[in-house]
Amino acid sequence: MAHQSDLIEQDILGYLKQHENKSFLRFITCGSVDDGKSTLIGRLLYDSKMIFEDQLDALESDSKKMGTQGEKIDFALLVDGLAAEREQGITIDVAYRFFSTDKRKFIVADTPGHEQYTRNMATGASTAELAIILVDARHGLMQQTRRHSFIASLLGIRHVVIAINKMDLVGYSEETFDKIEEDYRAFAKDLGFESIVCMPISALEGDNITSKSPNTPWYPGAALLPYLESVNVAAKRQERPFRLPVQWVNRPNLDFRGFSGTIASGSIKVGDEIVVVPSARRSKVKEIVTRDGHLTEAFADMAITLTLEDEIDISRGDIICAGQSPAEQTDQFAAHLLWMHDDALLPGRQYLLKTNNHMVPATITDLKHKIDVNTLDHHSGKTLELNEVGVCNFNTGQPIAFDPYSDNRRTGSFILIDRQTNNTVGAGMIDFSLRRAKNVHWQAMEVNKQERAKAKFQKPAVLWFTGLSGSGKSTIANLVEAKLHDRGRHTYALDGDNVRHGLNKDLGFTDADRVENIRRVGETAKLMVDAGLLVMVSFISPFISERRMARELLGEGEFIEVYISTPLEVCEQRDVKGLYAKARRGEIKNFTGIDSDYEAPQNAELDIDTSKIAAEKAADDIVLWLEEKGYLG
Ligand code: ADX
Repeated sequence: MAHQSDLIEQDILGYLKQHENKSFLRFITCGSVDDGKSTLIGRLLYDSKMIFEDQLDALESDSKKMGTQGEKIDFALLVDGLAAEREQGITIDVAYRFFSTDKRKFIVADTPGHEQYTRNMATGASTAELAIILVDARHGLMQQTRRHSFIASLLGIRHVVIAINKMDLVGYSEETFDKIEEDYRAFAKDLGFESIVCMPISALEGDNITSKSPNTPWYPGAALLPYLESVNVAAKRQERPFRLPVQWVNRPNLDFRGFSGTIASGSIKVGDEIVVVPSARRSKVKEIVTRDGHLTEAFADMAITLTLEDEIDISRGDIICAGQSPAEQTDQFAAHLLWMHDDALLPGRQYLLKTNNHMVPATITDLKHKIDVNTLDHHSGKTLELNEVGVCNFNTGQPIAFDPYSDNRRTGSFILIDRQTNNTVGAGMIDFSLRRAKNVHWQAMEVNKQERAKAKFQKPAVLWFTGLSGSGKSTIANLVEAKLHDRGRHTYALDGDNVRHGLNKDLGFTDADRVENIRRVGETAKLMVDAGLLVMVSFISPFISERRMARELLGEGEFIEVYISTPLEVCEQRDVKGLYAKARRGEIKNFTGIDSDYEAPQNAELDIDTSKIAAEKAADDIVLWLEEKGYLG
């Protein structure tokens, strides 16, 4: 392998020292094969006379090895998520290539093939500081130039090089170059880039790659490699307020209690005041411990363990912040969300939101708009499909500590995980907290649930009947309610068909609408349990996630899932409302069991198949069950 440093022969230790101290530049190349991307990367690696080249496949690299140690290659931003993705069976094609010159070390994220996959590029962009966007000089700006620029900007890249390639094929025309530059600057003016540098190159011929080309005497700027060696992108993160997302609490013995993690931004000194978010507890730094011993000061990207002057409670996921500039905390916020899964986003569904080392349940309360990644136009929409980007409002089960993504990519990003499948389904960038929500307080009431229940001599609960249309849910629920009522119990029945005439008359039968349907009914049932009632809910409620959400809204023993497991053939044969026939004829779309899924319960408290047992008997069994379990006083 070629090397260029004379130092290697003369003073190997000196060379190694110099190499260790070289700064890193992480960049991404965007463009399709036709634009000459592979040629450019090949040329860079070759012409840089790299000292060593390594190809790292992000998904095959050991995240422990890569994460916080060693050469401090930093894939931290979304990498937790990516490691998780790998376990979760999502393939994201990002190859990381590593090369080095005398002046700097480089990591190039290359997303080969699939340029149409936003998520691949986003994954590469999430850790990059600079993007090289290739434009074919013959074609000028293309839709994909816009898409790549938008994703780069969305993922927090602030420096771009527009490499106007194949200049040899346009006779090194200054005019052509100027026109493309002008077009690009006009397009990118709102994307928030700090620097845009346009370069006329030919990856094939080697023009303006390592040195200035005689073919473009009119071009005053630097060649690509010298530019990459000197561009200053790193300063900002050191200047930001100190943030240490706590990865683990290190307690080897009773005398030592340290908080470990990788510094996301800023620096810290022994004696500095810190504040922990979200707990708002304060203390001072006693020691900074690293693998190489104690330090008096530490900087962004370093893996450290802090010990504090005071014994304060800090857990994994908390962020230790500079005393004067704490991170924010919120449970309601707006964020840009990139959808990464084949199953569309369902607003109203509960997902797991993972920030720095911290996982909380989260729901998208509002999809405000989608952004067309090709034109940057805004569209309204009810869901996000694979590779789509939207602006959403989020609600989390517990407050999270964060910074806006534009201030800090590490503490401002998150991934979304499907609770059922454990798949990573989205990547998000937090825009701002929705402070309004903080003004809504929980009103404590004089009379509480227990007292209301006591007055009614019963233990309030929801009997949640789930099953296919025509399975017998409403019939049995109706009978159970009548029997309870006869015994003087206080009841209410919420039925799909009925509720869809009022509270939920704005909802149809798409997956997204069904999720919202069940969310509202779950909340309504919860209010009724609070009122002390025994509530029959009969809704198809086809998805495990939402039934689980309804269960989790309620207390222990307050949610009784009754699976009416009558088989599809029987329901279809009965076809009381004639809907199956219509669905088979294609007159109704998204009909459960025909062209829309039903996910059967796995751990229902009760399971009743009305093809085997009569409704009357089933109702008696349920009432008996309630009695035995003490619900009826
Ligand atoms: S759920 O899936 O969102 O829980 P819900 O129980 O409210 O459904 O409503 C189901 C009732 O709506 C069915 O019993 C049937 O009468 C009617 N219906 C109309 N269209 C559909 C459809 N496409 N799929 C299922 N049920 C439908």
